[in-house]
Amino acid sequence: MIDNLPDSSEVMPILVSSEQPTFVKTSKVEEVIKWALTYLNTGFPVHFRGPAGTGKTTLAMYIAGQIGRPVILIHGDEELTSSTLVGSETGFRHKKLVDNFIQSVLKSEEQITRDWIDNRLTVACRYGFTLVYDEFTRARPEANNVLLSILEEKILDLPAGRGENSHLGVHPEFRAIFTSNPADYAGVHAAQDALLDRMITINLGHYDEETETAITIKKSDISAQDAKKIVAIVRDLRETYNHNSIPTVRASIKIAKVLKTLNARASATDENFKKVCLDILSLETASPVPYGNRANHAAYDNKASKNFGENLPAGKAGKNGVKEKILSLIQKHTMGGRTYGI
Ligand SMILES: Nc1ncnc2c1ncn2[C@@H]1O[C@H](COP(=O)(O)OP(=O)(O)OP(=O)(O)O)[C@@H](O)[C@H]1O
Ligand SMILES: [Mg+2]
Repeated sequence: MIDNLPDSSEVMPILVSSEQPTFVKTSKVEEVIKWALTYLNTGFPVHFRGPAGTGKTTLAMYIAGQIGRPVILIHGDEELTSSTLVGSETGFRHKKLVDNFIQSVLKSEEQITRDWIDNRLTVACRYGFTLVYDEFTRARPEANNVLLSILEEKILDLPAGRGENSHLGVHPEFRAIFTSNPADYAGVHAAQDALLDRMITINLGHYDEETETAITIKKSDISAQDAKKIVAIVRDLRETYNHNSIPTVRASIKIAKVLKTLNARASATDENFKKVCLDILSLETASPVPYGNRANHAAYDNKASKNFGENLPAGKAGKNGVKEKILSLIQKHTMGGRTYGI
């Protein structure tokens, strides 16, 4: 049982260890952690904002582990309502007393109470757990409104008719960490100013080369030499095509893991390596819609598969352009600077 949380609770927090052996801490990462913990310890919610693959969720969970309290994790999505956050009435409980002591008199008393189930946000506020609200801008703003008084007045307003008090004082150890991607696909709502005003936002970009390399090594167990080459290729491609959005460190991790499985080397003379890079990087790079302007996810996917490489910067567009570029970067970063013959 966690801190008075009843065994009957429908919500079970996650116990996150402060020791996370797969978490990479370089000086850049340490710096972000230091400030985030400073703000959280001062009592302010922290919000990590940044493009896909910049380590927001990983960082939020690591920091939650450092706080040392049980963690309630919520993923924002369109379906989330304030009752899935706060709780709801689930039905009626009947309590019937029949007094048969005097046979001739039937004493009957019926009491009806409404059953209430605390949901994740209420449990976090009540017991002082750490809330990690991942991608909170994917939920509709009206669902998130309940957070306004939690973060400012430290009061959770519960729906009327809940039985006991309709206000719950937020436990002093309650902490909140939010993440969001400001330029995600459709389905993301603009973060409300009032909510943002109550948090401290830390903007995250892609990590530096040293950190991306360390993450790639940690996640795949390949050699530092190979990891450096893969990360250099991925970063170069990211700068070239996608306004610094994709491919992310996830692509480096994927390439490195497959390389490990194949027991292959990051070399331009290794056909397997070239094939894996082309498979993983071509589609990721051939974004037909510039980053930050992906109005419709479905349309994006559709277009990506049909018009591969369309809308890339002049001179770089088209399937072959992307392929040639990837091959030239493999040559450049694995063969000491010579470029592929184009
Ligand atoms: N400090 C770190 N140590 C180890 N792995 C990391 C670290 N930061 C990020 N990663 C790894 O990099 C990848 C991307 O990180 P993460 O999922 O946290 O990014 P994100 O910003 O939340 O992305 P998205 O917006 O797509 O959800 C994951 O595979 C994650 O495990
Ligand atoms: Mg994430």
